[in-house]
Amino acid sequence: MMTVCLLGASGSIGSQTIDVMLKNPNDFDLFAFSVGHQTRKIRGILNHFPNVKAICIQDKSKLSYFKKAYPNITFFSGDEGLLELIRVSNAQMVVNALVGFVGLRPTIEALENNKIVALSNKESLVVGGEIINGLLKQGKGKLVPIDSEHVAIAKCLAVQDEDIDKVIITASGGAFRNLSRDQLKDVTPEQALNHPNWKMGKKITIDSATMVNKAFEIIEAHYLFGLPIDKISTILNLNSYVHSLVRYNNGTYRMEVGKPDMRKPIKYALYQGLINYQTVVSDDLTKIKNTTFADFNEDRYPIVRLAKKVILEKGSLGAVFNAANEEAVYAFLDHKIPFLGIEEIINQCVSEHKIIKKPNYDTLKEIDLSTRAKVRKLIEGRRN
Ligand SMILES: NC(=O)c1ccc[n+]([C@@H]2O[C@H](COP(=O)([O-])OP(=O)(O)OC[C@H]3O[C@@H](n4cnc5c(N)ncnc54)[C@H](OP(=O)(O)O)[C@@H]3O)[C@@H](O)[C@H]2O)c1
Repeated sequence: MMTVCLLGASGSIGSQTIDVMLKNPNDFDLFAFSVGHQTRKIRGILNHFPNVKAICIQDKSKLSYFKKAYPNITFFSGDEGLLELIRVSNAQMVVNALVGFVGLRPTIEALENNKIVALSNKESLVVGGEIINGLLKQGKGKLVPIDSEHVAIAKCLAVQDEDIDKVIITASGGAFRNLSRDQLKDVTPEQALNHPNWKMGKKITIDSATMVNKAFEIIEAHYLFGLPIDKISTILNLNSYVHSLVRYNNGTYRMEVGKPDMRKPIKYALYQGLINYQTVVSDDLTKIKNTTFADFNEDRYPIVRLAKKVILEKGSLGAVFNAANEEAVYAFLDHKIPFLGIEEIINQCVSEHKIIKKPNYDTLKEIDLSTRAKVRKLIEGRRN
């Protein structure tokens, strides 16, 4: 029985993690979980998992209400509460389904406490990939990806991890894949939230439309699989039927195929890869049934080039990329900036940043805060 602490239980990945755990009640039990503002979801989760000992909520002012309502459960709040939850829950596995920079510190905390981390929070690796890999190298904890592309790659590499020509990350193209860059000028948040293939949280849905998500996934692949940037590429797969591929030096491809459903990679992560799965081999991508591929045009999605810069220059650059993106995405959702403003703000912040090499968490946090403040000023300036 694997005991689990689930961070972000009220979100898209969090809810689907609960689905997978409920389907496999003999293998998983929930010891602790966190929600952000959606505290109304607490009761439903507790109905399914009577052994929950600790819960973290975001808003401190609601603590006394919940402590009274559930006297047998320990409640924590805020960012620090997420760390206390990991420490006191005594769960073997931490599933990190938080969105954004807030997920990084809990990932570090979980690894430092030798937990198995099932990581959906890709921002952890974008911002703190060097710190995380440093901990893993010291033998602290274990990291298993949840992101579907990386799970697909892990499955392929588990069959063959030699003679790799390239790891190829698939992209659906997001909500605006049929529009030219010129047509992107006036698109709305409502249109951007209408992803063709996946139902996800708001932030990652916008990241998919801007292709920041693909840039993040390239950085994620670099840290997860130790691959240099010239071994990672991208391809468009419009119906997300192929979840990613590995091309070998002899010209063959290995890939995972199937309908898009995040419960599959979540299950893989919860079982740490120890489940039955199939990969498909082909030497001709045009012969793969039910799907079509197209070249990934970096001139159409120029933000993806930033992944290369972050991988090559490292240090504090990922923190700036991430913070500028987070702040700009929420401004776009609030109708404060246009869609292409997200990219412009990221590019400005990244190009004006003086990289700090080997930053520790506190330095990354300072950079996160100062970049956000800078973005808010930039946005104010654009509106006046
Ligand atoms: N959704 C997908 O299909 C998918 C696929 C691959 C990777 N991912 C990655 O998985 C992560 C989660 O994505 P998602 O789509 O599940 O996001 P989501 O639906 O927005 O859920 C995010 C979760 O984090 C909580 N949260 C947000 N800010 C918080 C804060 N400051 N403090 C504490 N809790 C906070 C939310 O709480 P409340 O909602 O209660 O406020 C919610 O439980 C992201 O890194 C995303 O890129 C997602």
